[in-house]
Amino acid sequence: MPYFTQVGNVPRKRFSQHRDADGRLFAAEVMGEDGFSSDMCLLYHRHPPAAVSRVAESPRAFAELVDNHPLMPRLFDLPALAGGGDLVTGRTAVVGNADVSMHWTSASLPSPLYRNAVGDELVFVHDGAARLETVFGVIEVTKGDYVVIPKSTTHRWVPQAGAPFNALVFESTGHFRAPRRYLTQYGQYLQEAPYFELDLRRPEGPLLAEGRNVEVLVKTAQGYTAFTYDEHPFDVVGWFGCNYPYALNIADFSPITGSFHRPPPVHQVFEAPGCVVCNFVPRMLDYDPRAMPVPSYHSNVDSDEIIFYAEGNFFSRKGSGIRRGAVSLHPIGHIHGPHPSAWESGPSRVGQRTEEVAVMLDTFRPLRLARAALAVENANYVYSWSQGGAPR
Ligand SMILES: [Fe+2]
Repeated sequence: MPYFTQVGNVPRKRFSQHRDADGRLFAAEVMGEDGFSSDMCLLYHRHPPAAVSRVAESPRAFAELVDNHPLMPRLFDLPALAGGGDLVTGRTAVVGNADVSMHWTSASLPSPLYRNAVGDELVFVHDGAARLETVFGVIEVTKGDYVVIPKSTTHRWVPQAGAPFNALVFESTGHFRAPRRYLTQYGQYLQEAPYFELDLRRPEGPLLAEGRNVEVLVKTAQGYTAFTYDEHPFDVVGWFGCNYPYALNIADFSPITGSFHRPPPVHQVFEAPGCVVCNFVPRMLDYDPRAMPVPSYHSNVDSDEIIFYAEGNFFSRKGSGIRRGAVSLHPIGHIHGPHPSAWESGPSRVGQRTEEVAVMLDTFRPLRLARAALAVENANYVYSWSQGGAPR
């Protein structure tokens, strides 16, 4: 998170004694990244946040992933996956590797209290609304939001009643950050960045809850552990620092357009170890009369590419079976690009607008496939560029 903020009841001096109106000391917690040498926050709890009365192994297991072999581009129909449950225990793995994994959820229930101790989570909301409750306070989340939840942030998701809360969840083994090239040497967003501090929504707070013997599900690299805490973790009266959850709506991403093709990095939103996240938003297509405003056929020779088709008609892949909510995987080793008919009609689109919205994850290690995703795969997608179609 690039900028300092403070919320609620905090002391005048860092690491000073901080007491309530009755003279009781608050319990200060330093939550810092990279061995306390990077972004950090100081949180002030009513109760010691380390007081655990029970530890139990959770039966929840990681999804089994298989290699993309023999190599094929893939198309998965995520809305066909089973929905229900909550955003944490009801998420279904789609793809993953040692750096990052992507999951789909169609949640209707409040999640358990949860924290991911492996890395940051990035949630993209496709449909619905929810209240994200965290130790830092509350973020009201709506359609089109990206939500970055820093590693080890205790939180829970409460979907709004009456409609499913559909979302992609990216689990990193590191931290999701703004691309370094968007920032000044001191961390402010540069003027040429496609979004700015004003577009980021921090938690409203503090959020205070009462309760004893409260269970929190913790994800580690080895599995899931259930801790029972003496006191409710939402007992933070105030905090300050630069390491906290925040939201950015995709509609606040200002696209960078040009007279001729602009390369995919202009669409980047976040980066994390081993991956980048980009998005394609409504924008003017290339406007020079000589321009070719559909993507070239391309070999991204160092990246597997995942695209989630959020809204629109996806002109360049018309006829491929892609629909709202689908995800394509274009792996290293496969040349891909527009449908041949879209390529031919490209010149007619000079200077027009596209209303497509899509979220892209590029990974620098090959992605493996979850079995649940294979159950909703369009097996003929690999042949969608061929005039002959699927082999008979
Ligand atoms: Fe591509």
